[in-house]
Order: sequence, then structure tokens, then C-alpha cells
Amino acid sequence: MITKQAPIGIFDSGIGGLTVAKAVMNALPEEDIIYFGDTARVPYGIKSVDTVRKYGLQVTDFLLRKGVKMILIACNTVSSAAEKEIKEKCKDIPVLGVIEAGTFAVSQLNNPLKIGVIGTLATIGSCAYDKALFKLNSRISVFSRACPLLVPLAEEGWTHNEIAEQVLHVYLDEVKEQNLDALILGCTHYPLFKESISRVMNGHKMTIIDSAEAIAGKAKSILQKTKMINSNHHGSFECYVSDKPQRFQVLAERFLGKELNQVEVVSL
Ligand code: DGL
Repeated sequence: MITKQAPIGIFDSGIGGLTVAKAVMNALPEEDIIYFGDTARVPYGIKSVDTVRKYGLQVTDFLLRKGVKMILIACNTVSSAAEKEIKEKCKDIPVLGVIEAGTFAVSQLNNPLKIGVIGTLATIGSCAYDKALFKLNSRISVFSRACPLLVPLAEEGWTHNEIAEQVLHVYLDEVKEQNLDALILGCTHYPLFKESISRVMNGHKMTIIDSAEAIAGKAKSILQKTKMINSNHHGSFECYVSDKPQRFQVLAERFLGKELNQVEVVSL
């Protein structure tokens, strides 16, 4: 039986999903979280749909073995390739994906008609955002751009240096000219570049959508509705990776601004 004391499972190919974990810690500080980063196989975004689906399902099995009460797919690439299959596997617990959350965030804007999406090659190639936004409002037009170098830069910890800014210029200068109402950061690694992105977008007023807060809000409302909120408890954060735990720990602690107990290596 899954109880309200069970942890929430969150996963990504690497450190990007920590942007979601951080938002969940803020929205639900009493919940225990189990995080998995597939550091042996990051990046996912340059791989085929079949490969990403296989990885996503393997990580899901790991989280189910850990007895989680809910899974947050903190990876747009997996959401675009395998959300349906992951939901089918997890019949007894809710599964939330970042693409749905990002689309919900757009629905909260005042009459958005031109939306930009940046993401991995796999996410942009899947047209998952185009389809979700079309469903939301068929008058919305979408301008997409894959930014494949951003994930390796983020995994290297290079989010706020000159190289990162130059790369962002190459990707975003064209995006800037589109008169967008909003730009979706369609990869959970990208909010790590938030300040550099704002600098590069300098002067261009558009809402920047990071789906982390939207997915954390949705998780909270589902747990409330199903009476599965864990309370009177200081939430713990357990971290697992598939390779190089020390390196992950340094980057994770820097981003989360707190010390982590131990990052454990598991093979899936
Ligand atoms: N952070 C992930 C995403 O949201 C995965 C990026 C990657 O591994 O390429 O798409």
C-alpha cells in the first residue's frame, strides 16, 4: 500500500531536473524526495526516441522499486518520448510531465499568440510543444529552436561565463527578433542559465516560462486532492545517479545552496 509518507520521485538525465526538485522543495517542504540523475548516459536530447524511452522506463522502474507515491518527469526529452508509456507503467500513482506543466503556464497568460520554445534536438524534433499548444489554442503560433550545446555546458557547470553567453547569443539572437509573447524553457537544464538568458534577451519583453514551478504547483494540488500530503515532518532529499557521484554532488550543492547527505551510484 502506498502511504502519504512515501517519497516523491523526480528524475532527469542529469542535473537539469534539480530545477524541478528545488521548486518542489519550496512548494512542499515536508515531502521526502528521491532524485535520480542518469549521469552515465546524459545527454538524452541527442539520442533516438526509442533509446530515450528505454532509459525513461528503466528509471521509472527504479523509482517504483523505491516505493514513490508520485513521479515527476523532470525532463522534457523523456516527457516528449515516453510520457504515455511511463503513465501506463505507473497505474497506481500519478505521473506528471514538464511539457504539460509548461503548456499550463502558457494558458495562464493573457491572450498569448506567439510562443517560442527552446529545447533539446529530441524535444524540438518531436513537436510535442507544438501539439500541446495547438490543443490549448489553435491560434497560437510556435517558433522553435533546438539548443543542443546548453546541456553539456550546464553539466560542466558553465552557466554564467563568457562561453555560455556567446553560445546563448548564437541560439537566441534569432529568437529575440520574433516578437514573442513568451519563451518556454523546454529543457529543465535551461533555467540554470536564467540570468545569462535575461542578459542576452536584454530589452526584449517576453515572459520566460520555466515549467518547474508549474509542475510543483500541480504536484501539490494533486497530493492535496488525494489526501496524500506528508506533514509535520522535515522533508528529506535522497539523490541517486548512474555515474560520477562526487561531480554531481558538487554541482547539485552549488545549485540547491545546501549540503547533500550522500549521492549514491546505482546501476539500472
Ligand atoms: N533536462 C532534460 C530535458 O528537459 C534532458 C536534457 C538532455 O539530457 O539532453 O530535456
